[in-house]
Amino acid sequence: MIGRLNHVAIVVPDVKRAAAVYRDTLGAKVSEPVSLAPHGVTVVFVILDNTKIELLEPFGPDSPVRNFLERNPGGGMHHVCYEVADIIAARDQLTAQGARVLGDGEPKIGAHDKPVLFLHPKDFCGTLVELEQV
Ligand code: CO
Repeated sequence: MIGRLNHVAIVVPDVKRAAAVYRDTLGAKVSEPVSLAPHGVTVVFVILDNTKIELLEPFGPDSPVRNFLERNPGGGMHHVCYEVADIIAARDQLTAQGARVLGDGEPKIGAHDKPVLFLHPKDFCGTLVELEQV
């Protein structure tokens, strides 16, 4: 069902400092920070040959990643995103097997303007999983 790893998201307290670590220490190609108000994050994309890393800093008072940062003040891995061809078919197959979808279970338009869903970490080895239809 799942296809490529689309991205790994890492929540950080300071996205510029995190971008410098990836650029200067790890020698990766990084984007400029972009604030996505509807999604409550400022993001830097780390472009790798086979996938992306998204460095996320909370943006605005209602940021969905602010609680995570309070629990992990130094930052940490937040979720992995796998690509699927048909997100409704994937959801129905997963829920039929007992997996829990977060929220109301309906896909939302994600930060890449594509439909996304999040799956409960307790059902997936302790890791928050995002599915993105590509
Ligand atoms: Co994501």
